[in-house]
Amino acid sequence: MKKTALITGASSGIGYEYSKIFASHGYDLVLVARNEEKLKAVKAELEGQHDISAFVIAKDLSQKDAAQEIFEQTEHEGIEVNVLVNDAGFGDYGRYADADWKKQYDMVQVNVLALMQLTKLFLPQMLQRKEGKILNMASIAAFSTGPYMSVYYASKSFVLSFSDSLATELKGSGVTVTAVCPGPTDTGFEKVAGSGTRKLFDTTKRATPDKVALFAYRAMMRGTIIAIPGLKYKVTAVGQRFLPKSIVRAIALKLQSED
Ligand SMILES: NC(=O)c1ccc[n+]([C@@H]2O[C@H](COP(=O)([O-])OP(=O)(O)OC[C@H]3O[C@@H](n4cnc5c(N)ncnc54)[C@H](OP(=O)(O)O)[C@@H]3O)[C@@H](O)[C@H]2O)c1
Repeated sequence: MKKTALITGASSGIGYEYSKIFASHGYDLVLVARNEEKLKAVKAELEGQHDISAFVIAKDLSQKDAAQEIFEQTEHEGIEVNVLVNDAGFGDYGRYADADWKKQYDMVQVNVLALMQLTKLFLPQMLQRKEGKILNMASIAAFSTGPYMSVYYASKSFVLSFSDSLATELKGSGVTVTAVCPGPTDTGFEKVAGSGTRKLFDTTKRATPDKVALFAYRAMMRGTIIAIPGLKYKVTAVGQRFLPKSIVRAIALKLQSED
């Protein structure tokens, strides 16, 4: 029987690449993001190329009822979700003191609460079937201090910690949870976050979203709990644990500063 992957953030960047990968492996899709036109274009493209069907749900995940409404829509359509990909997310660059409150609030809604709620809603069915996969987008930011992007870094630390704990809780249940932790990746992220002038983005060669998505897909299929694409970032994540926190903070401040 055909399996279905629900992918948030499917309209662009890494989420769009996930959609292509799942379609190429024969998964039906539920495509979620705000931009309905883009989602319809992804649907048309992938249905044209593969023997799959894609269902579009245009939804703003910063709205507190969004996750519940997505769940109800899949129920109404009789769609069984086998894989949940919580990809949608965004950042915001600048001093927290000067930040727009609504944007910080929405970031937590999208990056944290929608991910938590979609997981809460789809998990019981997966457990009942003794089969399911959840792929959560964290970031290399989850491991470190993030001045000028404090809420974003904290949101990704949450995603990593939550996913790790949940994966452990679900051991032996047939449901796996994978947290993906990429470094800077060439997508629309920087533009939305206004972070392109940071040294981190200026001095780092960005990964391509197709490679990040394929790495994450394979890690999810293996049931890896924490997946960090690229040796450099694996070393970064592990290395930070052994360095004095004062040094980690100083490096973070340098990388996060504007040129
Ligand atoms: N790019 C990087 O350097 C990088 C590194 C590590 C982790 N990540 C994480 O990777 C994930 C994907 O980001 P990306 O790099 O692919 O950036 P992107 O190209 O900007 O894609 C973000 C996706 O999230 C969706 N989204 C944003 N706000 C939304 C909302 N309120 N409601 C519903 N959907 C929303 C966007 O769709 P609409 O605009 O159509 O709503 C879009 O499909 C994010 O969680 C990000 O934090 C990115």
